[in-house]
Amino acid sequence: WGHTLFTYDSIGSTMDRARELAQKGAREGTLVIAAEQTEGRGRLNRAWISPAGSLYLSILLYPDAEKLPYLTVLAGLAVAEAIEEVTSIHTDLKWPNDVLIRGKKVAGILVESGVSKTRNYTVIGMGINVNIQTGSCLEIAGIATSLSDHIGRPVDPLALLRALIDRLEFLYSSFDQNAILKLWKSRLITLGRRVKATSGTSVFEGAAIDVNSDGALIIRRDDGTECAVVAGDVTLG
Ligand code: BTN
Repeated sequence: WGHTLFTYDSIGSTMDRARELAQKGAREGTLVIAAEQTEGRGRLNRAWISPAGSLYLSILLYPDAEKLPYLTVLAGLAVAEAIEEVTSIHTDLKWPNDVLIRGKKVAGILVESGVSKTRNYTVIGMGINVNIQTGSCLEIAGIATSLSDHIGRPVDPLALLRALIDRLEFLYSSFDQNAILKLWKSRLITLGRRVKATSGTSVFEGAAIDVNSDGALIIRRDDGTECAVVAGDVTLG
């Protein structure tokens, strides 16, 4: 992976560029990296503020149906492990896929799928706050952190990028669904907490008791009934 690499000083969104490349039949593992994004996007139609100093990348894959449901889980785990490998900072995951340091968001993952002329493709987008001062960025001050904010010195983005791609490629090619879920669950701070999950127009409130084999969050409501939330947003109580 990363043998075909597109780098940009500034771009709208690496997601859009990767999707264009998919339409042109670019190979699996094609990587799009930008120093800054002017229209970075996050989950649930949110903007992803993307000033210079952090890592913004998208990777193009053509996963088979077996791997498709696990890509979000796999990417969250790879980001968490790569950060830990390069900086020794422990990270947690908040369902479905925010990467946190002591409760503040340090990275986010966006998975988008589509169809090119010949086949289905998926783009995994990852944004990691590496060397930005989150305190001076109004939109995210207080809720986000960066690796350099946390350890008080700059972090080499290239070392992080290498570790991340290696980790992702390993987890993807040696795909072991149970092992991935187990590692992912061990970092999920959502489990055991009271949560409010919003999925489309539905709201589910209760205790987050588990995730099922597809990564859906199992919530036990106060009346004892349980539901599985497949996609959405969670606030911790
Ligand atoms: C989220 O937490 O909501 C997901 C954020 C994903 C941001 C990354 S940055 C690289 C790629 N390009 C984008 O426009 N978004 C993703």
